[in-house]
Amino acid sequence: MDAAKIIPLSAEEEMIHVLAREFIVDGCAGIKDPLGMSGVRLEVETHIITGSSTSIQNLVKSVLRAGLTVDEIVLEPLASSEAVLTADEKELGVVLVDIGGGTTDIVVFHEGSICYSAVLPVGGNHVSNDIAVGLRTPIAEAEKIKIKHGCALSRLVDDDEYIEVALASGKESKKVSLKSLCEVIEPRMQEIFTLVKRELDRVGPRDLTPAGVVITGGASLLTGAAQLAAEILELPVRLGEPGYLNGLSDVIDNPVYIKKDDTVPKAIFSTAVGLVEYGVRYHKFTSKKKVINNDVVGNFYNRLKKIFSGFNEWF
Ligand SMILES: Nc1ncnc2c1ncn2[C@@H]1O[C@H](COP(=O)(O)OP(=O)(O)O)[C@@H](O)[C@H]1O
Ligand SMILES: [Mg+2]
Repeated sequence: MDAAKIIPLSAEEEMIHVLAREFIVDGCAGIKDPLGMSGVRLEVETHIITGSSTSIQNLVKSVLRAGLTVDEIVLEPLASSEAVLTADEKELGVVLVDIGGGTTDIVVFHEGSICYSAVLPVGGNHVSNDIAVGLRTPIAEAEKIKIKHGCALSRLVDDDEYIEVALASGKESKKVSLKSLCEVIEPRMQEIFTLVKRELDRVGPRDLTPAGVVITGGASLLTGAAQLAAEILELPVRLGEPGYLNGLSDVIDNPVYIKKDDTVPKAIFSTAVGLVEYGVRYHKFTSKKKVINNDVVGNFYNRLKKIFSGFNEWF
């Protein structure tokens, strides 16, 4: 793995992950873990993820200023994949599309390991921006309207439904047809999935990913997003939601994200939950305590709870 790391990088780039795809022992390929095997020649095929040094430094600085320390940097969709993909899906071949605010992140798993990753510079915030411009309303209002009424497929909404939209100029509002709102949203969502399709075309034939596509992230919650994705990508699509959400719903700081009478929008938490699972699975602090059951995250939270309840006694 160390030898694989020796690749030329520009001064502005840094290595974030060196992921083993397969090991080859004396020409015998497809080995996941060569530990304990005999042989004379060991090769490894890796997937290396690099990032802009400046971005990484700024991110680390932000975290430090919040009074935390950074142990490791994890590529966002890699963390999300821990929370929303099953081992079977990764083994069969699956595409994870994490649609966030500013970016849409893609990872492709084949035979259990990552064979492709990409970050596209479009996401849910672009949709909100389009609505703000298209309906001449403030961005915050556009965001609310998108979450409350938005749909990625304009043909799914009725022609005769209207919504009230505040004008950018001030207190006045106007009536806008739901159809015209969705006609603003649809092309941007189409763009996102068309760009994803272009990336998938580079990966290879579609039968590499028989488990289809899993979409997650805040913008995947848009009504009709999965259906539009399935139509454009020509693969089965499901919404990826993390388990282990006890208590997390209380920390949503933006009430806009919760639709009235709706359950907790779990897909927003894929990365956060995935990071905890990643930490439990790969980080050094687990090596002391062997993980034996599936309730690791629950245990992790219990441990955190204990730590924090301990603080009360100090004050
Ligand atoms: N219920 C919803 N319907 C549609 N879009 C949503 C919904 N909830 C959140 N979003 C959008 O999701 C995006 C944020 O997603 P998130 O996964 O939190 O982003 P990031 O990973 O970039 O932090 C925003 O653009 C927001 O408008
Ligand atoms: Mg995200």
